[in-house]
Amino acid sequence: MLFDDAVEEYRVNGVSLIKSVISKDEINKAHENIQNFVESQSEGIFYEDDSRAVRAIYGAHLKNSYFEQLTKNPIFLSIAKHILKDDVYVHQFKVNLKKQVDGERWPWHQDFVFWRSEDNIAEPNLVNFAIALNDHTPKNGPMRFIPGSHRSCETEATNSSDSSGWYRHVSKDLQYQTNEGRVERLIADHGCHEMLVEAGDVFFFDPMVVHGSEENTSSTDRSVLIITYNSISNKPSPPFKRPGYFCSQNFESL
Ligand code: SIN
Ligand code: MN
Repeated sequence: MLFDDAVEEYRVNGVSLIKSVISKDEINKAHENIQNFVESQSEGIFYEDDSRAVRAIYGAHLKNSYFEQLTKNPIFLSIAKHILKDDVYVHQFKVNLKKQVDGERWPWHQDFVFWRSEDNIAEPNLVNFAIALNDHTPKNGPMRFIPGSHRSCETEATNSSDSSGWYRHVSKDLQYQTNEGRVERLIADHGCHEMLVEAGDVFFFDPMVVHGSEENTSSTDRSVLIITYNSISNKPSPPFKRPGYFCSQNFESL
């Protein structure tokens, strides 16, 4: 297929970058639609712990036709179907805004722990597509990946405190984090890749790869829009614990 090299890199490293996929015009539209969604005070909006800065929005594709259309991007769909060897639907849609100065970190974690523990999804047969909505620089808290950790790391997590609730699926005190000692060992073995990208670049990553990001100490936002596709034969098992904006119950294949 057209993106064979990128897919091969994904298989080896658990993450792969494709430059300049989304046009500047589309990026501007995404920003406008995020603003509208936030102003609509809809459910699925989460704030930072220590400020009124919006940290993340979830499920905007369920209410906004621009975002719904974005989930049908033919490049994303053809790569996702190729990797998952199946038809796909959108399991999760989110934007992490990581605002200038206020944007907090995302501790090291593996996404699949959340989807298995919270949504009863059996297999890590999902793939994330991340669109950079602005330039991600060393100072604004770019995403960091441990290349190859998706192959050498069992699903494993430390539940970092006793309090619960969906908020901790999004907060800087993330509910399921990869154990610090394990992160140190993985980085010693595999290194750490900082995803320094430009607005419109797209990277796709494996639900098992260990990743996270530091806080934003700069005066520019570091926003990323992430669409997670799941294989149609790997749907969550009811009863559904989480609302549709975290765990979609619309299984229409794309
Ligand atoms: C981040 O926005 O830095 C983290 C995103 C994620 O873990 O999905
Ligand atoms: Mn994640």
